[in-house]
Amino acid sequence: MMKFSALLFGALLVATPVTAQQPNRALILECMACHGDDGIAKDKDVPHLAGQSYDYLLRQMRNFQSGKRPHKEMKVMSRLMDDSEMQEIADYYSRLPRDPKS
Ligand code: HEC
Repeated sequence: MMKFSALLFGALLVATPVTAQQPNRALILECMACHGDDGIAKDKDVPHLAGQSYDYLLRQMRNFQSGKRPHKEMKVMSRLMDDSEMQEIADYYSRLPRDPKS
């Protein structure tokens, strides 16, 4: 019985970061370069993504991709994502705390 629950727990640990917590790791690493490791950007010209609403984030990424919201870097970045990746990333950032210290 011990063995079984340990196994189940292990599977959950492996499963969560890949799905809800950390979508596409390689892609997120690129976002972090500008938007910060925890979604809090260090550069004042770059917006924080942490704690922003899911709908808002997703809409912005779609708008960058379509060109509705013009921005050179974000247009390039948005083209690296398909719509399901945008949904995962919006979900990821919307769950991060706005203030990592609180
Ligand atoms: C080269 C730096 C850079 C990289 C890399 C980058 N971004 Fe951005 N991002 C920006 C800047 C600058 C803005 C603000 C655009 C503007 O002024 O309209 C922005 C805006 C955004 C916004 C809109 C935020 C808001 O508050 O309106 C989202 C969402 C976003 N980025 C997501 C991402 C994602 C997801 C990635 C990774 C796939 C990424 N960005 C990678 C620089 C970057």
